[in-house]
Amino acid sequence: MENFTEFITADNSVTYYNAEYDELYHSHFGAYTEAMYKFVKPASSLVSNLPERIRILDLPFGLGYNSLCALEEFGNVEIIAIEKDPKACFLLLENNPGLNITWAEVLKSLKKNLEYKNKNAEIRLYIDDARNFIRDLDMQFDFVFLDPFSPKNNPELWTFDFFRKLYSILSDKGVIFTYSSALSVRSAFIRAGFHIRRTEPVGRKRGGTCAFKKPCNNFLNIEKRDNYLLKYSTGKIPYRDKKLLLTKAEILNYHEKIKELSVNKGILKTVKKSIKDYKNISGGN
Ligand SMILES: C[S@@+](CC[C@H](N)C(=O)[O-])C[C@H]1O[C@@H](n2cnc3c(N)ncnc32)[C@H](O)[C@@H]1O
Repeated sequence: MENFTEFITADNSVTYYNAEYDELYHSHFGAYTEAMYKFVKPASSLVSNLPERIRILDLPFGLGYNSLCALEEFGNVEIIAIEKDPKACFLLLENNPGLNITWAEVLKSLKKNLEYKNKNAEIRLYIDDARNFIRDLDMQFDFVFLDPFSPKNNPELWTFDFFRKLYSILSDKGVIFTYSSALSVRSAFIRAGFHIRRTEPVGRKRGGTCAFKKPCNNFLNIEKRDNYLLKYSTGKIPYRDKKLLLTKAEILNYHEKIKELSVNKGILKTVKKSIKDYKNISGGN
């Protein structure tokens, strides 16, 4: 398919390169490893605090790894998955004759009915813009797996306004997991009312971010340097999309404008300058 090119990752699982976004769906390190160790296992480590049947929002479904791995890990689970590009959803099924039988069965059912059910678990797939889908959503989730393309390429799903909406559909003990450690993402979580921690690095230097409604001691503290940057640098400024309708260009342009204004008025320093300041005050740590 013209927009997608197959790519075999280091753990031998298949991902794709998406030409429209100029990005892979997963890191080189491993599509399966990423889904399991950035999303599913960290969530699974918290399950004893939650109701017997857990509910997950998989955002977006993409090739389906996060939903499929969650199904593998959790017994009693309901997964709501959203994806705006239906062509992505069944690439694993259509192009991988060696696909694990259970995964193939799940994807076949989703392709036919946008739904999969077994004795204890179900997945429902909705083809929509996630911003539109969650606008009037009236459900509570235990976990959100937030896995869009990078903030610079896909800012629509990384805004303060979108995170506010996620806050309202997360249960009190609920957690959002994401691979991103970008300052704009962390600042959007904080502004939206979340307490943030970070997950262990998997295949990259930095770990991902997890966002809780209530303060929590699970996972790692945010790095001291990031806390400094989130206070004094333009990294403090989140992406905005008040009505959840803006285009990527509109979100990025507005973000750049606010950053420029904050620096010109002396309210914040650039991230680069703040990193230098931090090195000076912390003695290079
Ligand atoms: C990094 S991939 C997701 C990978 C996926 N979690 C997996 O395990 O295969 C990002 C996905 O976000 C989807 N996407 C981007 N913007 C979206 C939006 N506004 N609403 C719904 N899906 C979106 C893209 O089509 C793409 O499939």
